[in-house]
Amino acid sequence: MNQFKIPYGKQSISQKDIDGVIETLKSDFMTQGPKVPEFEEKFAEFVGAKYAIACSNGTAALHLATMALEVSEKDHVISCPNTFVATTNSVLYCGGNVSFCDINKDNFTIDLDELERILNANPGKYSGVMPIHFAGYPVDMERLGKLAEKHGLWIIEDACHAPGAKFQKENGEWSRIGSCEFSEMTCFSFHPVKHIACGEGGMVTTNSKELYEKMLLLRTHGVTKNPDLLEKNDGPWYYEMPVLGYNYRLTELQASLGITQLEVIHENLEHRQNVANHYFDQLRDLPVELPLVENGKYHAYHLFVIRTEKRKDLQQYLMDHNIFSQVHYIPVHLQPYYKKNLGTKEGDFPVIEDYYSKCLSIPMFHSLSLEEQDYVIQTINNFYNSSKLGNI
Ligand SMILES: Cc1ncc(COP(=O)(O)O)c(C=O)c1O
Repeated sequence: MNQFKIPYGKQSISQKDIDGVIETLKSDFMTQGPKVPEFEEKFAEFVGAKYAIACSNGTAALHLATMALEVSEKDHVISCPNTFVATTNSVLYCGGNVSFCDINKDNFTIDLDELERILNANPGKYSGVMPIHFAGYPVDMERLGKLAEKHGLWIIEDACHAPGAKFQKENGEWSRIGSCEFSEMTCFSFHPVKHIACGEGGMVTTNSKELYEKMLLLRTHGVTKNPDLLEKNDGPWYYEMPVLGYNYRLTELQASLGITQLEVIHENLEHRQNVANHYFDQLRDLPVELPLVENGKYHAYHLFVIRTEKRKDLQQYLMDHNIFSQVHYIPVHLQPYYKKNLGTKEGDFPVIEDYYSKCLSIPMFHSLSLEEQDYVIQTINNFYNSSKLGNI
C-alpha cells in the first residue's frame, strides 16, 4: 500500500494560523471582538467591495442576503441546479419560489442564452437571479448584469467556490468576483474544503450601505442598540428588536483563522493554477473531458472537474488507491424535497443531467504536493490502461 491518502479538497493550516488562534484564545474576546471587523475589512479590500459582513457559514450568508432583499412568497427567483442545495434553500427559507435554468454545457454555470430566453418568455415573473461561480469559474457578470437590469431583477452571487476569481469586461478591464460591480450581494463560504478555511464561516459583500446595515441587524437576532433605530431609550443596557433576525455570528477564533488564511490567498490561488496546468498537461491524452478555460476568465479552481463515461468505476478505482474524489453536484431539482414541492423531475434539465452522469472532482487544494498529484495522475492512467485490457 502506498503512503498517500488524498481527498478532493482540504484545508491547509500554517503555524501562523495556529499562533493567531492561540493569541485570540488568550485575548478578552471569543466572539464580538476586534477580529471579525478586521477580517471583514481585509476581505472587502481583497474583493474590491465597500462592505463585507462575516457570518457563521455560507448558508447563513445566502440567507442574510435573501432576507436583506425581503424575499417572500411573492417572489420568483431563478438559479441553476448545479450547486449545493444551500443556494436555493435560502430563497425557500424566506417563503420565496425557486425556478431553475439549465447549465452551459462547456463551463457548467448558468446558461445565459437559456436564461435570456426564459426571461423574455416570462416578462415580469422573476424578481431575482442567483448565479453560482461553479468550481471557481466566473460567470460573465457583465452580461448577466445587463440582462438583470433589462428585466428588473436583483442578483445575489453564490461565490462560495470563487474567492479570487475574476473576468475581463468588454472594455478589457478585470472585474473581481465579490466586488458586486454587477450585483446586489455576493456570498462566500469558509468551510475547510474552500480556499479560506475557518472551520465554518461565511461572508456577504455589497456596495449598498442599506443592505449592509440590514444584514448587521439580521446577523444578531434583529437586535440593536443603535440610538437611531430605537423607539425609546431606557438606559445604557437598553436594546430593541425591530426585525426578526438570527444568531449568524462568526466567532473571533474563526475570524482570526480567516485573517491569516486570507494573507496567503494569492499563493493559494497560484498553486491551484499550477495544479490545474499539470492536470491539463498530463491528462489530455486520456479519454476524459477536461474543464474549459476561456480567455478573459481567471478560474479560482476550488474544484477540478473531469468528465468520463466510466465515472463510477474510476471513482471506485481511485478510492481503492486511497484517492477520494467527489461528485459536484447532484442536480438540486432532483432532490426529493424539490421534486415534491416544486414538481421538478428527471429530464427537466438535460444538460446538467448529462453532466451529472459523468462529472468527477479530482484532488485540488493548496497543500496538494507535486508527488501526491503525480500519484493521482499515475493512478488515473493505470485505471484507463487496465480498462483497455478489459480488467475493469
Ligand atoms: C456553492 C455553494 N453554496 C453554498 C454553500 C454553503 O456553504 P456552507 O457549507 O459554508 O454553509 C456551499 C458549501 O458547500 C457551496 O459549495
